[in-house]
Parts: sequence; structure tokens; C-alpha cells
Amino acid sequence: MNEERSSTASLTLQPIGVVRSPYRHTSEVPKGPGTRHAAEGSLQIRADLEAGLADIEGFSHLIVIWVFDRSEGFALTGTPPADNRPHGVFATRSPRRPNPIGLTVVELLGREGSVLRVRGVDMLDGTPILDIKPYLSSVPPERLRRGWLEEAEARNACSSADAAGNDAFR
Ligand SMILES: C[S@@+](CC[C@H](N)C(=O)[O-])C[C@H]1O[C@@H](n2cnc3c(N)ncnc32)[C@H](O)[C@@H]1O
Repeated sequence: MNEERSSTASLTLQPIGVVRSPYRHTSEVPKGPGTRHAAEGSLQIRADLEAGLADIEGFSHLIVIWVFDRSEGFALTGTPPADNRPHGVFATRSPRRPNPIGLTVVELLGREGSVLRVRGVDMLDGTPILDIKPYLSSVPPERLRRGWLEEAEARNACSSADAAGNDAFR
């Protein structure tokens, strides 16, 4: 079932910058089981916020929080490319969510002033960035459960190598 996003409750956020990506249309972004994102792009941070990037070069990976600015409405359940069964939106990475917020872990390749060169973008060109944080993984692999995705991969007989790093709805 498709739902419209509520306009009664709102929260105003100012983008801190935009993503520069090779992808202009959602159909160009690789999807499906085993997908790995190796595309390079950049995070162009507003010049007035450049001081906030001090010391970021020491981190190999960053969490980018951004807006699905080209998705419409939301669906509480959907069938992701990685499976043939429906799942709840909060158990997936669907772009069509009540709050259209995306999160991508990218590898930091370098910095020139307020521009961060990165690898691993799955965002469209011009996507607004809400925040950036250093990525610090703290979940030991043996404690990590991957839910329906693991089951879907077993059903599809994905190799464990393909499965590693695969994300739902990619
Ligand atoms: C499955 S989502 C996952 C995004 C992010 N890694 C996450 O977990 O929140 C990735 C898809 O979002 C779509 N997408 C990327 N940028 C978008 C944008 N600015 N607006 C709407 N859809 C976008 C593309 O179709 C891409 O394949």
C-alpha cells in the first residue's frame, strides 16, 4: 500500500552540502544481490562549514546521512531487489520511507578544502547531504545478525563472498 508523507509534523534541516555522483537516474545505480558500490564521487560541503571538516582526513570511512530528494511517498512494506518476499520498510533500505533519509558508508579518498573525494556512492548526483560522521564499526562479526537478507541469500544460493557487504534494497 502506498502512503503520502505527512505534512502536519515537520522538522527543518539545512543541507550541509551536495553529493557529486556519476548517477543521474535511479536506474543507473547498481542494485540486487551481491552488489558492491565502487563508484567514485565527491561530497561538496558548504564553504561556510569547511572548518567542521578539520581532522576528517584521519578516518578511512565516513557515514553520510542524506535525503532521498527524488523519491515520492512511502510504502510500509515492499519487496526489495535482494529478495522475492515483502518486508517492512524499517527492515530494508528502501528509498520510499516515512522520513526520506538515506545513509551510506563511503571510503574517504582525499580532501581538497571543502570537497571530500569518496568511493562507494549510491546516491544520485545533486543529492542533499544532511550530515557526515566518522565510521567506527563496533559490532563484532559473530554478533551481527543479517535477518531476512541472510535467508534470502541462502535461498538464492549466493556465495558467502558475494553476500558479504550486500545491503537490502541495493
Ligand atoms: C536502496 S537505496 C540505499 C541508500 C542508502 N545506502 C541507504 O541505505 O539508505 C539506494 C537507491 O536509492 C536511490 N537513490 C539514490 N539517490 C537518491 C535520491 N537523491 N533520491 C531518490 N532516490 C535515490 C537509487 O535508486 C539507489 O539505487
